[in-house]
Amino acid sequence: MRIGDEFQNQTKYFRDSSPAMAANEKVMPPYKEYPADHPRITLPEPMREGGKPLFTLCSKRRSVRRYQQEEVTLASLGQILWAAQGVTLNTGRHLFRTVPSAGALYPLETYVLANKVDGLAKGIYHYEVPGHRLTEVTSGDFGPALTHAALGQKMVQQASCTLIWSMIAARAKRKYSQRAYRYIYMDAGHSAQNVALAAVSLGLGSCQIAAFFDQEVNDLLGLDGQDETAIYLTAVGIPAG
Ligand SMILES: Cc1cc2nc3c(=O)[nH]c(=O)nc-3n(C[C@H](O)[C@H](O)[C@H](O)COP(=O)(O)O)c2cc1C
Repeated sequence: MRIGDEFQNQTKYFRDSSPAMAANEKVMPPYKEYPADHPRITLPEPMREGGKPLFTLCSKRRSVRRYQQEEVTLASLGQILWAAQGVTLNTGRHLFRTVPSAGALYPLETYVLANKVDGLAKGIYHYEVPGHRLTEVTSGDFGPALTHAALGQKMVQQASCTLIWSMIAARAKRKYSQRAYRYIYMDAGHSAQNVALAAVSLGLGSCQIAAFFDQEVNDLLGLDGQDETAIYLTAVGIPAG
């Protein structure tokens, strides 16, 4: 049996053995915040209502891999990030989001490589969930490097921006042990689908990308690949033609 089959089997729940909490996992903060010396960029307030009707968006969504040269607005990027992980309810204990997450543990972090975004210098940014703002991780033109890391898929270089999700698995493993990995990938799917639908609503196109050299993407984001590792990308831009 190979590792994927083994994983699926070993993480099954059975009636006669109740799932145990993984007490030895590190307690992690519920979301990531960079030190204060990293520049912050305030995003415009997102629309919390409106947009195109849901069923229209479902009908029109298609993976788009060719984009125009024009920039997208910062408001559009903010709207997409809000759709991906924006806060919709603060109970004091949890920051509930636009997407479901097993146990409300939110093991994902969202980054964006800004390539052509009006009013935003080219660079890599982290989405700061509670403040709905961006933190600059590093500035510069990393489109070619991310394209190279994504097996040379040219849409990354053409795109206005590419969202990158990482996971901090320990957040979910404390409760779900190894089964957490199943849930984390589901969380990523929920976020990416919201992004795909939000993009259509804004007149943009997107394409999910899972084919990439993991450590090359981690190196771009400054992640160690262990405590935090990149798992999924979505290119977003103005569709060509
Ligand atoms: C998990 C996942 C990974 C994907 N990775 C890639 C990718 O690396 N490159 C790519 O061009 N498309 C990728 N796609 C897009 C699929 O090829 C696309 O969704 C599929 O062909 C169906 O077309 P549609 O999205 O237009 O309906 C991925 C989609 C998913 C859900």
